[in-house]
Amino acid sequence: MTILVTGGLGFIGTNFILGHLASGGDGVVDLDLATYAGNPANLSHLPDGEHLLVRGDVCDRALADRLLAEHRPRAVVHLAAESHVDRSISGPAAFVQTNIVGTFTLLEAAKAHWESLDGVGRDAFRFLYVSTDEVYGSLGPDDPPFTERSPCAPNSPYSASKAAGDHLARSYFKTYGFPAMTTHCSNNYGPYQFPEKLIPLMIINAIAEKPLPVYGDGRQVRDWIHVEDHARALSLVLERGAPGETYNVGGRSERANMEVLEGICTVLDETAPRAGGLRHIDLAVHVADRPGHDRRYAVDSTKIEEELGFYPSYSFPDGLEAAVCWYRTNSRWVESVTSGEYRDWLKRHYGMGG
Ligand code: NAD
Ligand code: DAU
Repeated sequence: MTILVTGGLGFIGTNFILGHLASGGDGVVDLDLATYAGNPANLSHLPDGEHLLVRGDVCDRALADRLLAEHRPRAVVHLAAESHVDRSISGPAAFVQTNIVGTFTLLEAAKAHWESLDGVGRDAFRFLYVSTDEVYGSLGPDDPPFTERSPCAPNSPYSASKAAGDHLARSYFKTYGFPAMTTHCSNNYGPYQFPEKLIPLMIINAIAEKPLPVYGDGRQVRDWIHVEDHARALSLVLERGAPGETYNVGGRSERANMEVLEGICTVLDETAPRAGGLRHIDLAVHVADRPGHDRRYAVDSTKIEEELGFYPSYSFPDGLEAAVCWYRTNSRWVESVTSGEYRDWLKRHYGMGG
């Protein structure tokens, strides 16, 4: 048996595939364009029978048709996306293309494949669309966390493009009975995250004693979940989720950005102190805020807890300490992803030298 994963060279895809295989899961065909965010080296140690990398675009219908016909996967796990909010503000077109056209293309190809199946194979087939809590918009300080019934109210081109995918997946279930399921997870952190996102960016800059750019007042709140917990939640939904359902996945770890930064800096002060007794947190600089910046996300995971028995295993302090340790230990991985395009991004976005 095989599953087709898209975006397996990215942060969550890599962790999902490693967790899936470690728990005895079937082989993976991984469709990934290897954009700046995808790193072929992450999974290059795996034999082809476990992880077959196919470099290609999720918008390529002929390629999707060929992979489905050749490998006859029992499921599709669709993670491939443009995923960085800041990039969606400066260049939304790629988000519309990959996140909307790509999701539509894959749904069409997977539906045609599913229609060609019969009996048990058709009943067992699943399409898991990995969406985000950002489709629900922003919460006030005292609002209850997002549930699966919260209204869809995206505020960035990124979240709007992901929400379009939500609507398409829902419509394919309602209209065609196609067995699509959707997850809405909160902010992930952990190994293999491209350092354009808050936590790896801050860890890497703090280690290098470079400025730590805090948007606005730094009081925006995110609900952090370790990526291995998210990957486990995806496996549970894939194996036991119900077609047509959506599942929220949160870490029950709401933190303001400044608290996250203080946590990282405290770990580094203890494990890699700066010369002269200087503190890492003194590298923090407040910079211009993100346009349309969502103030707070928080996710109510009651449904996935009660129906599928999912609970995060990492506490945020332990997970954060482990993440700091991972980026310190894996300096070669960091070097391999922080050249070329990454330096251009730092310059363009922050006016910061690489
Ligand atoms: P990522 O940016 O690290 O990886 C995205 C992957 O998709 C890369 O390997 C890239 O090469 C690939 N890709 C991009 N465009 C492609 C295309 N046109 N065709 C084929 N492959 C393409 O993203 P991530 O953080 O791992 O997120 C994975 C998914 O999870 C996304 O759909 C994202 O919206 C969702 N998500 C992310 C988070 C988070 O905190 N990172 C939280 C909730 C949901
Ligand atoms: O909530 C899930 C989403 O989390 C995912 O769907 C997205 O793919 C993922 O990128 C993430 O979106 P955020 O915008 O919340 O993550 P980011 O790491 O970009 O920013 C987290 C917070 O930190 C946010 O309030 C902006 C702030 N920030 C970010 C960066 C990169 C800073 O203050 N400075 C920075 O340099």
